[in-house]
Amino acid sequence: MSLKEKIESVKNDFLTDVDNFHTQSKDIEQIRLKYLGRNGVIADLFKNLDTASKEDRPKYGQLLNQLKNDITGKIDSYSSGQDNIDGNDIIDIALPGKNYPIGSIHILEQTLNEIKRIFNDIGFGVAYGPEIDDDYHNFGALNFPEHHPARDMQDTFFIDKDTVLRTHTSNVQIHLMEENDPPLRFIVPGRVYRNEAISYKSYCLFHQVEGLYVDENVSFGQLKGCLEYFVKKMFGENCKMRWRPSYFPFTEPSAEVDIWDDKRNQWMEILGCGMVDPEVFNNVDYDSNIWHGYAFGMGVERIAMLKYDIDDIRLFYNGDIRFLSQFR
Ligand code: DAH
Repeated sequence: MSLKEKIESVKNDFLTDVDNFHTQSKDIEQIRLKYLGRNGVIADLFKNLDTASKEDRPKYGQLLNQLKNDITGKIDSYSSGQDNIDGNDIIDIALPGKNYPIGSIHILEQTLNEIKRIFNDIGFGVAYGPEIDDDYHNFGALNFPEHHPARDMQDTFFIDKDTVLRTHTSNVQIHLMEENDPPLRFIVPGRVYRNEAISYKSYCLFHQVEGLYVDENVSFGQLKGCLEYFVKKMFGENCKMRWRPSYFPFTEPSAEVDIWDDKRNQWMEILGCGMVDPEVFNNVDYDSNIWHGYAFGMGVERIAMLKYDIDDIRLFYNGDIRFLSQFR
């Protein structure tokens, strides 16, 4: 057998051995010894280099080196487990298991769920509307005249001249009335966006729950009764609340509700409300001689901060497990 043939046959032998290693799971170290050991097959071949002619020697030397490298590489990849095909990985059953902590419902979602439940109990359905909306639904139809300073009450993110990220859930009042005939009674939970300086009490996005009730004989007294019922359910019978007159373009008269915050020793505003302005009814073709309504909009983060004694609105948004896991 010429040296070249010998090299070929060693190569084939090695491949067969490695194949058997797969199926029989023999110790790869045995194969290493057989081929790469001091007295192994490869060393033997190197000794045989002498038998080649002077001209052929470098060529065979190269071939042999190549074979040695191939075999070494293959064996190394098996012993480092990269190429472990038989699946017999060593399992250390004494290692501690991986700990996958169970998540929890975000405290904002919990608060929203509670608000929905309270209003469901007294006959409000739940509706949703677009977060990207046109100027008309967010402002115009709600009686914010163009270029009127009332628009400055809310710092708006514009997408283009006529499209905004809604600054409040009140836009859905318009959608609801455009799409449904009266009477109607809905709450609308959702995200809203404002281009405000970020601080412990303001964030660029937050959540509101809008309320809208339209029927034939709706009074401010009913609005008061409804929201007082809500506040007591949410904050307890003994919670201190107060009403303040206010202004919104889409309600007349308008009011705000504050809750007494024992921790900070101050009143905290949680919602705005009022009787739907007849101008808004005109914009959606509701006859304001027949239909009356009340509306309200509350800040969900504010409510959660008061109820659960959370002192920074940013905590709702930075996903810190140490915060979130307190509300399991
Ligand atoms: N949209 C108002 C705001 O974001 C809150 C509001 C006030 C909603 C009075 C209402 C309302 O429905 O009647 O500041």
